[in-house]
Amino acid sequence: MLAKILKSLPLFEDPNLLVGFKASSDAAIYKLNAETALIVTLDFFTPIVDEPFWFGQIAAANSLSDVYAMGGRPLLALNIVCFPKNEDFLLLREILRGGAEKVREAGAILAGGHSVDDPEIKYGLSVIGIVHPQRFLTNAGARPGDVLFLTKPLGTGIIATAVKGGLADKSVEKRAISVMAELNKAAAEAMLEAGAHAATDITGFGLLGHALEMAQASKVQLVISASKVPVIKEALEFARLGLVPEGDYENLRFCEKVVEIMPGVDKTRLVLLYDAQTSGGLLVSISREKAPAFYETLLQKGVFEAAQIGYVEAGPPKIVVTP
Ligand code: CO
Ligand code: CO
Repeated sequence: MLAKILKSLPLFEDPNLLVGFKASSDAAIYKLNAETALIVTLDFFTPIVDEPFWFGQIAAANSLSDVYAMGGRPLLALNIVCFPKNEDFLLLREILRGGAEKVREAGAILAGGHSVDDPEIKYGLSVIGIVHPQRFLTNAGARPGDVLFLTKPLGTGIIATAVKGGLADKSVEKRAISVMAELNKAAAEAMLEAGAHAATDITGFGLLGHALEMAQASKVQLVISASKVPVIKEALEFARLGLVPEGDYENLRFCEKVVEIMPGVDKTRLVLLYDAQTSGGLLVSISREKAPAFYETLLQKGVFEAAQIGYVEAGPPKIVVTP
C-alpha cells in the first residue's frame, strides 16, 4: 500500500541526490562536494521493553544503524518524541537519557528534537551522518562470488513476544536487550576496512526480507545456510513452542514466492530467519578473498557473534535457504 502511495508522489530529481526515494535503501544520501556526502535518516517506534532507559538505548541504536549500514559516520541527532501529557515524566527522562547515552557512544552530537502529546509513547532519532560520496555502501552492490555475513544473532522479536507472555526469565530478556542495544558501529568500521561490496541492517522484515531486498537491488541470488545463521538459542526454544509474533508470519507471506527452501532445512530455524528484529545486525556482502580478514577484524573489534552465513550467485533475484 505504502509503495503505491509513494509512486503517486512527485519524484524529486537532483544530480547530487545519490540515494533517494527510488531505492529501497536504508537512508538518503546527498552529495555536498567531491569529498563529502550527507546521510539522512529517521526512525521511531513504540516501546518494545518495559524499562524506559533500555527502550531509549534500543531506539537510538536502531536509528543510528541506517547510517552505519551505508558505511557512514553519524554526526548529529535530533530526538523524536511522542508522549502522553498525563504520563509520568520521569519515564520520558529515562528514555531520553538512554538515547543520549547511545548517541554519545556513537561519537555523534545530540542537537535538539521535537515532541508531541500522543496517547501512545514513541521515541527515536533523526540522524545526519557523513560519508565519502564514492565510498558509501547500499544493498545494491552484492556480486556473484561474494560471501555473506550477519553481525548479530537473530531472535529478539520472538523473545520480546515471550517476555510479553511472561514466559521468558530476566536473563533471557537481558540478553535480547543487550543484542538490540548494541551499536552497529564496530561492524560498520570492520566492513569499511575490509572493503565490503554491499550492506543493509536487519530490522522489521527479518533476515530473509532484508536479504530479498539486497538480492533484488543487486540483481543476484543469495544462498543462505540456515544452520550457520547466528541465533539466540532461547529464541529457538520459544519458536518451537509457537511463541512467534504475528509480524513474522506477514514476513513469511511477503517473501514466500521468492524464497526457495531446500529439503532438510530445520522448520524452527526457518521461523527465526523471518523474525522481525527491532535493532538487528548488518548483512554484509564481501568478496570471498577478503572474508577471512573481515572476520578477523570483526573479532578484534568485539563483534563476537558475527558469522559467515552464505554466498552470492548469479541468477534471477531470489533467496535459496539450504540446511
Ligand atoms: Co535499515
Ligand atoms: Co530504518
